[in-house]
Amino acid sequence: MRIDIISAVPDLMESPFRTSILKRAMEKGLAEVHFHNLRKYALNKYGQIDDAPYGGGAGMVLMVEPLDRCISDLKAERDYDEVIYLTPDGETLNQRIANTLSIKENIIMLCGHYKGIDQRVRDMHITREISIGDYVLTGGELAACVLADSVIRLLPGVLNDEQSALTDSFQDNLLAPPIYTRPEVYKGLKVPSVLLSGNPKVIEDWEHEQALNITRTRRPDLLENK
Ligand code: ADE
Repeated sequence: MRIDIISAVPDLMESPFRTSILKRAMEKGLAEVHFHNLRKYALNKYGQIDDAPYGGGAGMVLMVEPLDRCISDLKAERDYDEVIYLTPDGETLNQRIANTLSIKENIIMLCGHYKGIDQRVRDMHITREISIGDYVLTGGELAACVLADSVIRLLPGVLNDEQSALTDSFQDNLLAPPIYTRPEVYKGLKVPSVLLSGNPKVIEDWEHEQALNITRTRRPDLLENK
């Protein structure tokens, strides 16, 4: 999978892709992430990429021309399955969306900044708008990192034990059951004895029941969709 991320401040996003699992995914050639600095597509030598909104109001708007040039250059090189704009008014990211995107080949992610982007970019290029939650960030960069992380970890071979992505919270609309590791007793707190029983069927039933209870208590809405 190839992800091209367009941003006015790409430096904001470097470290998540240079560390740990995402770094290994890139080194193994399972994912490629390319950053594109919008300033390179600026209109003038002052590096202008934003301007005041027509009709007045606070904040600056990312201009149509640099964004169109950048996206069109990328599209001239390859076909893209999705051109995603990260914005608080998009559809809210969930596991189903991450699953769907993980089988795509080429994705552009466009990060808004300041007040937003000229509507004509949305009309011309954007195929999908995604929010990472009902709150407003300073820009789409952190949201793009979250989205890319949620997608890349699903690519075959990225996680050591492929099973572990399949048993994530949300994959079956259930939250995860509690997990434990050594020691067996810590400050008087014991690991549930069923997990030490060595009986896989009993353990699986217990974990499922725990997952159901936790989901019922914390996120009953997930069970309605089951
Ligand atoms: N940009 C600003 N806030 C955002 C959010 N919640 N999700 C996606 N992009 C954003």
